[in-house]
Amino acid sequence: MPRDARSRRYLMCPPTHFEVTYSINPWMDPGKPVDLPLAMAQWEDLRDRYLALGHTVELLDPRPDLPDMVYAANGACVVDGRVLGARFAHREREAEAEAHLEWFRAHGFTEIHEPLHINEGEGDFAVTSTYVLAGQGFRSSPLSHGEAQEFFGRPVIGLELVDPRYYHLDTALSVLDDDRDEIMYYPGAFSPGSRAVLARLFPDALLTSEEDAARLGLNAVSDGRHVVLPQAATGLFEPLRERGFEPVGVDLGELLKGGGSVKCCTQELRAA
Ligand code: ARG
Repeated sequence: MPRDARSRRYLMCPPTHFEVTYSINPWMDPGKPVDLPLAMAQWEDLRDRYLALGHTVELLDPRPDLPDMVYAANGACVVDGRVLGARFAHREREAEAEAHLEWFRAHGFTEIHEPLHINEGEGDFAVTSTYVLAGQGFRSSPLSHGEAQEFFGRPVIGLELVDPRYYHLDTALSVLDDDRDEIMYYPGAFSPGSRAVLARLFPDALLTSEEDAARLGLNAVSDGRHVVLPQAATGLFEPLRERGFEPVGVDLGELLKGGGSVKCCTQELRAA
């Protein structure tokens, strides 16, 4: 079946000050050096792919004391032009929330909610046509789910993450078609109850192997047709093609050292 791409607006932050100086997820090893010029080249390649696919990329100013700011997905979640700000679980990233809010205020967004409860933006919120799926267990508080539901006026489905390697929802689940409620996910990252919820809501989901999940293959960004994903997740390419998608593999190996890949670097700005 043919797939239609819809052009998107993304918010990204260059890895100018990216480094791994602390460890807040199992991927981060401060003893392992980061090749900053390579990280920058990989990030620029991702940005250029989006531009070549016809998307708009907005840029957030990187700050020297915030090495994780390159993972722009975590700074907010925008649905129908409404901005739910973030509140980070770890002190090291706390100040990123305000940097995002400033960007939104300066760029004409007026419906902005500063959250009471911890939520790490699109790291833990995934938007399908019907639902907002919301991760909990490592970062975002389950209380943030009710807060998001009230603010967005969309049903929020809480999902329990159980494996520390998949500490954010976007490391274990990805929306493939947000007009059709179509997703892919790695079942092993979720509690038995949450797996049952996913199976009930998304019976046709693409289920991925542990191997592809461990290469952060689920940390993907789809425009409805092109699925930009880590190129190492080779097992996902054929199943995606069978469903009519065009996989676009990218290498973000340096950013993987911070525990993130394609989706983590990309926040989607969904218009009203
Ligand atoms: N080092 C960052 C952290 O642990 C990586 C965040 C990745 N972002 C994401 N959306 N999963 O917070």
